[in-house]
Amino acid sequence: MRKPTMLLASGAEVRTVVVWDAPTRLFHWCLAVGFATAWIAEAGEELHELAGYLVLALVGFRLVWGFVGPPHARFVDFVRPPRDVVRYLLALAAGDPPRHLGHNPAGGAMIVALLAAVTVTAGSGALMVTDRFWGVDWVEDLHALASDLTLLLIAGHLCGVAVSSLLHRENLVLAMLTGIKRAD
Ligand code: HEM
Ligand code: HEM
Repeated sequence: MRKPTMLLASGAEVRTVVVWDAPTRLFHWCLAVGFATAWIAEAGEELHELAGYLVLALVGFRLVWGFVGPPHARFVDFVRPPRDVVRYLLALAAGDPPRHLGHNPAGGAMIVALLAAVTVTAGSGALMVTDRFWGVDWVEDLHALASDLTLLLIAGHLCGVAVSSLLHRENLVLAMLTGIKRAD
């Protein structure tokens, strides 16, 4: 059977592989929409809280998927020791980072940071509406701080995606939609 291919802007035809499975892609876009909805909806509104609970449920799913999902969705595939992240960032600064079919080491570190940040944001929000923590200052402060920090991380995430897409001449946003990338 003929292997799947894609046509590059240069006119060359290259082989493709499915890197991101459907649940991972669905998780990603639901997380982005859930976070944006919680951010935009008025604090205290039901929609704000519902979107926040959705974010928590999605993170719960992703934690399980990171152990039982297909190879590129697994944490072992993209959570690298700090020295690999530094080595990758140095190569990036030199303008010559290696291409990774799955997440690169810096992208992997960003994913861990994003998952932790959205968990603290939504988790502290959920605490705020319990009898025990209602009106407790540090929980409110944590909620506001964690949501601002998450926003900063998202800005870094989008920059990383843009830089990687440009350097490797591939559309990573499209890949997160279709699941398909050019094979090595
Ligand atoms: C329009 C906005 C966004 C775009 C275009 C975008 C794009 C992407 C792309 C292209 C990847 C794959 C990166 C790679 O190839 O290694 C990715 C992964 C990821 N992004 Fe985003 N992203 C967006 C918003 C967000 C938001 C708001 C969050 C968190 C609140 C987020 C969290 C993540 C996570 C956790 C992953 C890892 C996916 C996985 O393996 O499960 N993204 N994103
Ligand atoms: C990722 C999800 C979430 C984001 C991005 C988010 C973001 C925010 C932001 C930016 C504020 C205003 C903070 C300030 O400047 O004082 C806020 C307030 C609030 N959030 Fe969230 N939140 C999320 C999840 C939740 C959840 C799950 C709940 C509860 C179930 C919740 C309950 C609240 C409440 C009650 C306030 C109002 C605090 C007040 O009126 O002083 N949030 N949230």
